[in-house]
This record gives sequence, C-alpha cells and structure tokens, in this order.
Amino acid sequence: MQKKTLFVIPEVHAASAAAATSIRVPFVRPALPSYADLQPAFENILRSGQLTKGPYIEQLEQLIAKRLGVRHAIAVSSCTVGLMLVYKSLDLAAGSCRSRSGAAEGCRVSGIEPLSRLGSARSGNRNEPLGEVIVPSFTFLAGPAAIVWNNLRPVFVEVDPTTTNVLPQTVAAAITPRTVAISACHNFGNPCDVPSLEAIAAEHNLPLVIDAAHGFGASVHGKPVGGNATAQVFSLSPTKLLTAGEGGIISTNCDCLAHFVRLGREYGNDGSYDALFSGINGRMPELSAATAIASLALLDGVVVRRNQIAALYRKELAHLPGITFVETPSESQSSQKDFSITIDPTQFGISRDALRREMAARGIETRAYYDPPCHRQTAFEHFHDRTRLLPITDMLSARSLSLPMGVHVDEAVVADVCETIAHVKQTT
Ligand SMILES: Cc1ncc(COP(=O)(O)O)c(C=O)c1O
Repeated sequence: MQKKTLFVIPEVHAASAAAATSIRVPFVRPALPSYADLQPAFENILRSGQLTKGPYIEQLEQLIAKRLGVRHAIAVSSCTVGLMLVYKSLDLAAGSCRSRSGAAEGCRVSGIEPLSRLGSARSGNRNEPLGEVIVPSFTFLAGPAAIVWNNLRPVFVEVDPTTTNVLPQTVAAAITPRTVAISACHNFGNPCDVPSLEAIAAEHNLPLVIDAAHGFGASVHGKPVGGNATAQVFSLSPTKLLTAGEGGIISTNCDCLAHFVRLGREYGNDGSYDALFSGINGRMPELSAATAIASLALLDGVVVRRNQIAALYRKELAHLPGITFVETPSESQSSQKDFSITIDPTQFGISRDALRREMAARGIETRAYYDPPCHRQTAFEHFHDRTRLLPITDMLSARSLSLPMGVHVDEAVVADVCETIAHVKQTT
C-alpha cells in the first residue's frame, strides 16, 4: 500500500536547480498544505476580489488567539514589522492609557512610561540619550533592527550557553534609568523563561517584548507560548513551522497596545485619512492568511515529528566528543525550529566552520546561527559598549551549527547527516 504523505514536499525550483545540484540535503523545507486543501479558499478570495483586510485574516486571528489563550492576535506582514509596530505602539499606548487615567480591561501597559521618554524622538534633541532596550546579542538581527527603527538603543546582553536564551538575572543586572523595555527570544524554538522576566519587568515598570519568531509549536507546561508578556511576536516565514509564505502575528492581552498595532499596520490611519501617527503598511494578504489557516491544521503533527527527529539527532551524535546540545527546561517543549549543536574545536578535533565546509562539500546544507552576533554587526556595533564583554555569545557564534531540519528530514537523512559528521571528524 502506498504511504499517504501528510505534507507537500516542495521540489527544487527549476531556475535554481542547476545551482542546487550539489545540495543533497537542503537545510530547510517547509511543511506545506496540499494545493487541494488551499484551493477552495484561494478560489473564494480570487472570486471575491478581496485580496486584503478580509474574512481570512479575521479567521486566522481568531484561531490563533484561541490557541494561544490571548485577547488579541494581530496578523501582520512579517515578524520584523510586528516588532517594529510593537515598540511604536508601546510608546503610544503608554501615553494613551495614562491620558485616559485608567486602562481598558486587560491592559498591561497602563503603568509604563512612553518608550521615547528619554529619546530624541520626542524631545527633538539629538544629544539626549536614547531610551534603551535590553536584548540578547545571540539572536536574529530583526530584534535589534526593530529597536533601532524606533529610535531606541539596543543594549546587548549575554545568554545562557545551555538554553541559548537570556537569563533573568542577566537582564535584571542590565537595567538602568534609561531602560524603557526588555526583550527576549525563544531561540531556536526553545521557550525562554517569560514568567521570571515578567516579574523583573513588573518590578521596574517596564514592558516585556518577546521575539517569538520561532515560537509556533513551542509550549510550557503544555500551553503554547505566546499567552504572556506584554507582547509576543511570531514569524510565519517559510522557515517556520507555521507559515503564511511571509507573515507575522502579534499576541497581546493589552487592549491599548492592540489598538495601536492595528492602527499602525494601516499607516496610522483610523479611516479618517488623517493619520494619527506615522504607521506602515503592515498588512498580511488574504492568500497568505488562508495559507496560514491550512498550515495551522498541520502544526501539531509537525511539532511531534520535529521533536522525534531532534531526539534521533541527539541519540546518533551523543557518542561524539566535543558536541553539545541545546537544552530545553523539563516543563517546556521546543518547537525545534532549528536543531543546533555546539562544536568544541579542541575536543571535536576541528572547528565548526571546518565541519560546515566539509559537510557542504558532501552536499549537506547547514547554517551558522548567529554568526556574527548582533553586537558585532555593522548596523549595531556602534551601539555596543565595548567594555561589556559577551564571551558566551562570542563562543556560541563561533561554535553553533544548525543541522538540516524540516519535512524532508527523516530517519535516513538523520543517519546520513550524523554519519557524515562522524566521518568528517575521523578523517579531517
Ligand atoms: C529570531 C527571529 N526573529 C525575527 C525574525 C524575523 O522574522 P520575519 O522574517 O517574519 O520578519 C526571524 C526570522 O527568521 C528570527 O529568526
């Protein structure tokens, strides 16, 4: 009997086939719904002519809000735009809640100061110090980019080497009178300690923004991540477990914040054509929303499968000295958005970069997330206080290697990848 495949496995695009012939195992392939599953929605959308701001966005937002157990899930064009809108809206919501001298039901930001209280954005004085947002350096560059876009200053902090996430005590130690927000990330889909970070944020009257780009599929005590913090922002790009093609979701329990995010994704225009603030076109198209709805139906199966593959990778690589794994706290489940290992060059025998090169030469694609780390990138290094050393971040950046993960990775591929690693170790 022919085995029914759950997912559509994309073929290598014809145009890139020649370039890709040397790739035997691609780094990532998305788990996509079948065309048959998408076709009715696509047809409805095309027939209706409503390509944006339609019923599929509404349905997606409702489904996600229910899944996360959160008051608001707001669909946007990407996680990056979502993060940009959250910082912008926190500034506006703080002022708004205060001027109404009371929060709308569910509001969590009523007590916070506007983010730009110390920034040149509000005063117009370019010499005034920027408001600071504490953010890990060992993360994707979209986090600090969204901070800088809001005329705020990223303050890069260290991560824990075993989870690769920020430690609450590290964040607490970095708070200064200029701090206006705290940011953390569920790195590689490994949930960060949001309750402890929330406690610190509450103590200092600061908003907590989680970069949950890798978060769909991750859970803590069986509950999907995304239901706490001031806001969490997910990515629905093709490398994620839940995909819309491109897209993002902002989850929040704060009515004021949600209000400004919704306005912000509409250029700051409430319909009056008299923009209330400078927003952006941050909308997710209807075709993308329909893709995400169909993708959502696959998510639970994808998480189970990825965790099986991750366990298999660990088993197959456990005997090799010099390899360590990302550890997930016992109460949590990682989405395994990435399966990343750390290579100690002394114990392993060769460096991460040499291993990566040898694997590429044998047709296996990997990624060196996140190298260089954010505090060493051209766009952000001038924000970094060089006396604040980040040795764990530098170590992880030099040693972390993400292995192929996705719908194309089965038991045979894991065996192939792990045998290749062992072979390279022995022979190089
Ligand atoms: C940790 C992290 N944050 C943010 C983003 C940005 O997501 P998007 O591409 O949806 O803007 C990514 C993208 O992969 C990411 O890995």
